[in-house]
Amino acid sequence: MTTTTTRRWLKRIALALLILIALAAAALFAGDRLAGHKMQRKLDIAVKPVPFREDAAALERGRYLFASRGCVDCHGAQGNGRTFVDDGKGLRIAGPNISPGPGSVVAGYTPEDWVRAIRHGVGRNGRVLMVMPSEDYNRFTDEDLASLVAYVRKLEPAAGGAAVLDLPLPMRAFYGFGLMHDAASKIDHTLAPAQPVPDGVTVAHGAYVANMCLGCHGAKLAGGKIPGGPPDWPEAARLTPGEGTAMTRYADAEAFARMFKTGMRPDGTPIKVMPFGSLGQMNDTDVKALYLYLKGLPASPEG
Ligand code: HEC
Ligand code: HEC
Repeated sequence: MTTTTTRRWLKRIALALLILIALAAAALFAGDRLAGHKMQRKLDIAVKPVPFREDAAALERGRYLFASRGCVDCHGAQGNGRTFVDDGKGLRIAGPNISPGPGSVVAGYTPEDWVRAIRHGVGRNGRVLMVMPSEDYNRFTDEDLASLVAYVRKLEPAAGGAAVLDLPLPMRAFYGFGLMHDAASKIDHTLAPAQPVPDGVTVAHGAYVANMCLGCHGAKLAGGKIPGGPPDWPEAARLTPGEGTAMTRYADAEAFARMFKTGMRPDGTPIKVMPFGSLGQMNDTDVKALYLYLKGLPASPEG
């Protein structure tokens, strides 16, 4: 090759690279605009209100659910908000203040508003919630939903503010282009509330508890990349039978329960990402039922 042809080729490559960069920038920009629109979109969901309760049984059950179903991880033990993720690279997520204190986002919430937020991922005025994992909570029975709300409404008033939802630009673009979904777009809003099953170490109760694992472990619990998680998070483990399943590490319900209490595998290595602060609060019945249910799941392809 002569130097002139080499130079001509170099120029072409440089031009192609510039075009690619411009296209990528345009795509990010377009994706970001789409994300903005999507976050502002309104959903009009008709719900049946679950009446407010204040009795001791509801408050006690609500306390347990708030502590063990993940609410504390993002809203804090006092309900006034807590940072859930801050990877130091632009991804920062914190839940808002849902206690009755100053800066609360649930001041004046009606029974319908509570149902919409918790079960449907839709906030006041029909605004979709971006991070709140309502797909994990859609199957709460009326009884459990009422208990949770009773407890949250009776929290000590604590000061706090709105949610923090700082997502890096590529993640916003992903969301804009529909490669990442908010809870409201994953939920079947036409489903009737789940019917209560008696508490106990049964497959049916285990299936009920397992609803809160769906957001991370996938709709079929087959594991895989957690949508919207930071790039350095490991994939969620496969909980269904088959190649690579994590369940073979747990010979019995006791070993499984120990994992939830300690945050470690039987070999002593720590398990990442799982919110053990709340999962470790699950009672024996819930954990054993969960084990029974997971062990009986049909095999499914990796998610
Ligand atoms: C992974 C973090 C996370 C978990 C777990 C979580 N939330 Fe949230 N929640 C949020 C964030 C973030 C918002 C702010 C809205 C959004 O997602 O855009 C929010 C908003 C809310 C709102 C207010 C909606 C509005 O009108 O702004 C309520 C009520 C709420 N959460 C209740 C709960 C309850 C009850 C639980 C437990 C059953 C729970 N949340 C679990 C992150 C979380
Ligand atoms: C916030 C996301 C999140 C939630 C909620 C969550 N998990 Fe996980 N889970 C993960 C991730 C990520 C891993 C892989 C961790 C690793 O490889 O270190 C994991 C790993 C596991 C493992 C494998 C442990 C091992 O031996 O390697 C089991 C079992 C498990 N999860 C069960 C559950 C169950 C049951 C629930 C619901 C009660 C649940 N998880 C809720 C994210 C989550």
